[in-house]
Amino acid sequence: MSHNICKENRLDRKYLYIQTFGCQMNVNDSDKIVTLLTEEGYETTDEAECADLILLNTCSIREKAAQKAFSQMGRFRMLKERNPNLILAMGGCLAQQWGQKILSRVPYLDIVFGTHNIHRLPEFIRRVEKNGSRFVETAFELPVKSLNIMAAPENGAVSAYVTIMQGCNNFCAYCVVPHLRGREESRPADDIIAEVEKLADHGIRVVTLLGQNVNAYGKTIAGSPGFTQLLRAIGRVKGIERIRFTTSHPKDLSEDLMRCFAEVDALCGHIHLPVQSGSDAILRRMNRGYTRDQYLEKIEGLRHYCPEISVTSDVIVGFPGETEEDYRATLALMESVTFDNLFSFKYSEREGTAAAGFDRQVPEKVKSERLQRLQALQEEHTLKRNRILEGSAQDVLVEGISKNSEHDVTGRTRSNKIVNFRGGQDLAGKTCSVLIKKACLHSLRGELARGEEHPCSSK
Ligand code: 5AD
Ligand code: SF4
Repeated sequence: MSHNICKENRLDRKYLYIQTFGCQMNVNDSDKIVTLLTEEGYETTDEAECADLILLNTCSIREKAAQKAFSQMGRFRMLKERNPNLILAMGGCLAQQWGQKILSRVPYLDIVFGTHNIHRLPEFIRRVEKNGSRFVETAFELPVKSLNIMAAPENGAVSAYVTIMQGCNNFCAYCVVPHLRGREESRPADDIIAEVEKLADHGIRVVTLLGQNVNAYGKTIAGSPGFTQLLRAIGRVKGIERIRFTTSHPKDLSEDLMRCFAEVDALCGHIHLPVQSGSDAILRRMNRGYTRDQYLEKIEGLRHYCPEISVTSDVIVGFPGETEEDYRATLALMESVTFDNLFSFKYSEREGTAAAGFDRQVPEKVKSERLQRLQALQEEHTLKRNRILEGSAQDVLVEGISKNSEHDVTGRTRSNKIVNFRGGQDLAGKTCSVLIKKACLHSLRGELARGEEHPCSSK
């Protein structure tokens, strides 16, 4: 829990202001950084003005994300001028990508650390404190030591992330991730299970397993269980009521994983399965390793084993060479699947990727127009999928008081949809049977199921 320390007695403490950009992997890395630095005597604060250490954990997946991090760093220049003892650090994918160049671009930055160097952050900070020198460390170190740092869950938290692998060997033509996170590396299954058991002891009920391509779990360790064996083992950990995972690559999604949705009770009926495009020509140029029909077959298989499964996806519009016909094939694929939700992006050229050298770039105006049409279609589909739940009773795991009303609590269905309903803080961490009254675009409105003597339980 962060404190407003400008207004409190500072005592001898040191304060950390950390801001995270990008994916869940970065969120998990930031949680690990907080855990590491807490051991070094730091406490987190929400006020950058009061911090002794400001750290940005950055993202580089699209140009916009990179610009956001740089402009945020610019905000801190004044603070550094006012307080020369303030340490400014930048980590994450942008730091990995730019390395030494960032120190020249941002002359008031002290530390630049890469995606494989998180565990050494306390040492870097001590070095700056001791001799004030600025420096960069972005070397790829294998094994990635931070994989084994367990982020301490916040008091009262119900859910937690657990990184099971990192890096990627797929080299999709548009994607900078393999260049910045390095090659695939899995974490030993025993370590993962020990962490999940510890989290369950802390009261965690939901674990989300993280990796750039979780289906490839285990491949880098001789004799390791594969992803589905890992899922089944985590399914046996007492106290873990729900398991989620992200992200899966369609080409590696096995029938056994589909079967897990029917057989592993704790595994939630939701899959995030990025398709990227509905056109075979574009999928080939993207180096995705599957065709449109193969993707649709995977969806069919998933729905066979788990008819109520919620399916979300990612799409890129305006990849080099995408014609109106290719784009329409994406809209048609959306019509065939009816995704529960879709994250859609305009193609953004990333230095060092294969697609950066492709010809037939799509004009910005065309990309914007395609994105808009696609998002309008998805809104219809999201609402359609949400409305199916109207009138049904759903198991909702309550996360806490709703941001919009103190009379409401907010939680999630097993399919990962947000539900708000009347209730108090005492329901946090419990699973309630909730009758869905109204479906909206971003959430569902419900009420505690009447007629049940105990609509809520804590397992
Ligand atoms: N341009 C646009 N979107 C991208 N993504 C990854 N790289 C790019 C890029 N260069 C999207 C993909 C991926 C999601 C995390 O970000 O859809 O699945
Ligand atoms: Fe990027 Fe493709 Fe790897 Fe996903 S699978 S991280 S899109 S290269």
